[in-house]
Amino acid sequence: MPGSGDGSPGAPGEAADSGNRPFIVAIDGPAGAGKSTAARRLAARLGFALVDTGAIYRAVALAASRAGIAFDDDRRLAILLPGLRIRFEAPPLDQAAAGQKTILGDEDVSLEIREPPMSLGASAVSARPVVRAALLDLQRRLAAAPSHPGSVLEGRDIGTVVFPDADVKVFLTASPEVRARRRYDELVAKGQTVSVEQVLADQQKRDRDDSQRAVAPLRPAPDAFLLDTSDLCADAVVDALATAVEVRLEQRGRPV
Ligand code: DC
Repeated sequence: MPGSGDGSPGAPGEAADSGNRPFIVAIDGPAGAGKSTAARRLAARLGFALVDTGAIYRAVALAASRAGIAFDDDRRLAILLPGLRIRFEAPPLDQAAAGQKTILGDEDVSLEIREPPMSLGASAVSARPVVRAALLDLQRRLAAAPSHPGSVLEGRDIGTVVFPDADVKVFLTASPEVRARRRYDELVAKGQTVSVEQVLADQQKRDRDDSQRAVAPLRPAPDAFLLDTSDLCADAVVDALATAVEVRLEQRGRPV
């Protein structure tokens, strides 16, 4: 489990002191750019913790939906957030390929948060400043896992807001068609019935909302390394990211 915190969102804090915290790799980019696969495999290769911040927003959307709270009801979201416990748990060794689990309270919600309504719900709650502020400190605490030499965080605003002083910042992207096809293949592999057209339409709405929102819009940090993954296989993406990390570790005089 990548985290030392108790898993509940706290008040927004200052960015962690880069001298005292683990090595941070920030991977941002739109849905379907290949962030999840790249982040998971990079974290495994480096022995780093993995913090999937989209899963955190998804868990908030699920909790709100179960409580009958509208995704734009700031007053009720503000009451809900402090009571939520969200954390990640490593899978059993024989299920390592399944990736880590997202736990809300004591319940494994990994599958439910991936369903299309929660994709749109996560995008909606993530536009609310009250939600972003409450989750900032949780994301930083999960990344400060003392059990790991570093953390890989994937999201939309890691390099711009959560860790503006991250050691390595990467912005992954890919053409809209490639991204929609990847998400479609993922959903079909999970047994969901969707059409590519629907996935593309949902993605276009999310892209628009995520990049036009007033707070922490999706955009590359000025010092991020941009990587278009449209024509790259997952291995090539992970190799490129691992090289960027190794270069930075060497610059900092830390062993790879
Ligand atoms: O990466 P994902 O598809 O699981 O993210 C779900 C939604 O959460 C996405 O529409 C944008 C939002 N999000 C965000 O605003 N900031 C993050 N750091 C991560 C996700």
